[in-house]
Amino acid sequence: MKILVTGGTGYIGSHTAVELQNSGHEVVIVDNLSNSDNNVLNGIEKISGIRPEFEEFDLSDQAKTADFFKRHNDIEGIIHFAAHKAVGESVEKPLMYYRNNIFSLVNILQGMKDNEIENLVFSSSCTVYGQPEQLPVTENAPVQKAESPYGNTKQISEEIISDTVKSTKIKGIALRYFNPIGAHESAIIGELPIGVPNNLMPFITQTAIGKREFLRVFGDDYNTPDGTAIRDYIHVVDLAKAHVVAVERMVNDKMKKDFEVFNLGTGKGYSVLEVIKSFERSTGQKLNYQIVGRRPGDVEKVWADTQFANEELGWKAEKGIDEMTLSAWEWEKALE
Ligand code: UD1
Repeated sequence: MKILVTGGTGYIGSHTAVELQNSGHEVVIVDNLSNSDNNVLNGIEKISGIRPEFEEFDLSDQAKTADFFKRHNDIEGIIHFAAHKAVGESVEKPLMYYRNNIFSLVNILQGMKDNEIENLVFSSSCTVYGQPEQLPVTENAPVQKAESPYGNTKQISEEIISDTVKSTKIKGIALRYFNPIGAHESAIIGELPIGVPNNLMPFITQTAIGKREFLRVFGDDYNTPDGTAIRDYIHVVDLAKAHVVAVERMVNDKMKKDFEVFNLGTGKGYSVLEVIKSFERSTGQKLNYQIVGRRPGDVEKVWADTQFANEELGWKAEKGIDEMTLSAWEWEKALE
């Protein structure tokens, strides 16, 4: 199958491009390289032996997107990753987030409708649940008011897709990611944060390698066993594989509804201190860290109920936390 991967030179997109090619699919990548690098294409080629077709443009540009789809109307499925994703930045620049994340989705759906492309997998986030009342969190838990414009773009995007499937032939699957970390086992592709990382894992590896002085652990007064916040960390390669399963499910007409939602996590929660311990254990590195105050907007604890994804998609995350933290470290070292 020919699959369009938007944001395919980014962190999750590049790992997914590799898994798609490993499964025999043809990949076309569109990316504006606003937060990624051309070199990633070399990495994908090195791992899978195939260089994906690539076009550099901004999907929030309606004319360029329409033109792209006219030239590529043989695409069978789309996995849409391309989006801005920094929570803090979205609070500073809400219009930039709405323009980029929402316009690009609308342009893609228009291109799909005009060219009879029916299958869309959308990159969503567990952030839509806020702090859930019940854990583990199922797909039926209520969506709560977003804490940031970034989070709101994920909620609005899901609604746009769910509305669109009602009046077109388009079908959608929203994948709600928990916390993707780690890198490909080859250490040829991985997460490439520009500037100071916001997320825990790249901050840990950059601290261990000496790029940062110490990690700030945001809060140790949460209602959790060690007081630090709990997340469901998932290996990015496990996550990438779920996208292959999802797009194949759509193309092979296995969907039960025209818009489906799946949680992608491992079902296990780890505290910040447990992630640090895992990193120290798996790499043999000692990590400098200090406990500081809570980060505004953080939830206390969240982990996924994975039963629906496991049973309905027939997919299960396989890699454990030590494999995640070690692969992140191997990637950091390879960047030197
Ligand atoms: C964050 C976003 C989420 C988004 C995801 C994608 C927030 C509130 N949530 O998830 O909406 O989908 O990124 O990138 O920003 N931590 C530290 N020190 C650090 C960094 C993080 O202690 O320097 C802690 C955090 O407080 C949190 C955990 O590590 O408890 C994970 O943080 P992070 O990696 O930023 O992910 P989330 O906040 O869960």
